Amino acid sequence: MKSIIKKLTETFGPSGFEKSVRNVIRKEIRDHVDSIKSDKLGNLIAHIKGKGTKVMLASHMDEIGVVTSYIDKNGFIRFSNVGGFFPVHSLTSRIIFENGRIGVIGEERRKSMSDPVEMTKLYIDIGARDRKEAEKLVPIGTFGCYERGFEDIGKRIVAKALDDRIGCAVLIEVAKRLKRKVKNDTYLVFTVQEEVGLKGARTSAFGIDPDIALAVDVTATGDTPEAKKMAVKLGAGAAIKIKDWGIVCDPKIVETLIRIARRNKIPYQFEILERGTTGATVIQLTKGGIPSAAVSIPSRYIHSASEIVDMDDVEAAVKLIVKFLKTDQGGLKNNR
Ligand code: CO
Ligand code: ZN
Repeated sequence: MKSIIKKLTETFGPSGFEKSVRNVIRKEIRDHVDSIKSDKLGNLIAHIKGKGTKVMLASHMDEIGVVTSYIDKNGFIRFSNVGGFFPVHSLTSRIIFENGRIGVIGEERRKSMSDPVEMTKLYIDIGARDRKEAEKLVPIGTFGCYERGFEDIGKRIVAKALDDRIGCAVLIEVAKRLKRKVKNDTYLVFTVQEEVGLKGARTSAFGIDPDIALAVDVTATGDTPEAKKMAVKLGAGAAIKIKDWGIVCDPKIVETLIRIARRNKIPYQFEILERGTTGATVIQLTKGGIPSAAVSIPSRYIHSASEIVDMDDVEAAVKLIVKFLKTDQGGLKNNR
């Protein structure tokens, strides 16, 4: 799985510019599903035909990024955020633009080092000598994202965009292991523009109209020095979301996930995330309402160029979802 995770995380894909990621996924998953198509917004929808309950799984293809907004006479570029871009994580990071041009994030002199790092004080230095040269290389309105290689550090891996390419990798691996044998009508959906407002999950859910849905995305952890108190930790298993900023997960789906994990001895932990949410939040509110929940992969340093996840948690998430789809979930589509 690591080689596909490397490929996915090293691919360019800020919100709205998921094309390269979509192409990587389409190639990887094509032979393992009954049909695959992309819709008008760019969501990639893979279908494994099955009888009974229509289940939608959603991982997002996009990553956080930047968009250039102003160039000064010396060729320094000001920019706006695309999604939850954290200025404090960004200093001297490398940014890559769609045409391959690299830049470095610099900061105006701070009066005191204890002052916060502010977005308006940051700029991108692409090595241009003046405005004219910069405008030619990276015109205003150019999208970029972090440039950072994947690193395999044993059980754990480091990369940018593990949010949510790790979810995409999980769904690809799920398709491979299912070998088209499912007990539910299964839709694996790779969504666009999650980081700017959960857009693709909303529209694809409307189009598919599933009976139930699961988002697969990263969640935060409480296992680093002086971290906010949170029970999730790296290596303790797939995180079954109970609640986050945007959703109270469907209790019946949560109960089912727990039962499957216990029965199959799949390591799991409970997630209550105070800030942040996933596509499940908008899928739940689609049409007449779709019972939704989420399986999360714990990640440190989310929305930085160096996110860390544990491969044991990734494996647990894959196993849990495979078992979920190989079990008839007819009971979950009834009225509550
Ligand atoms: Co995110
Ligand atoms: Zn995410």
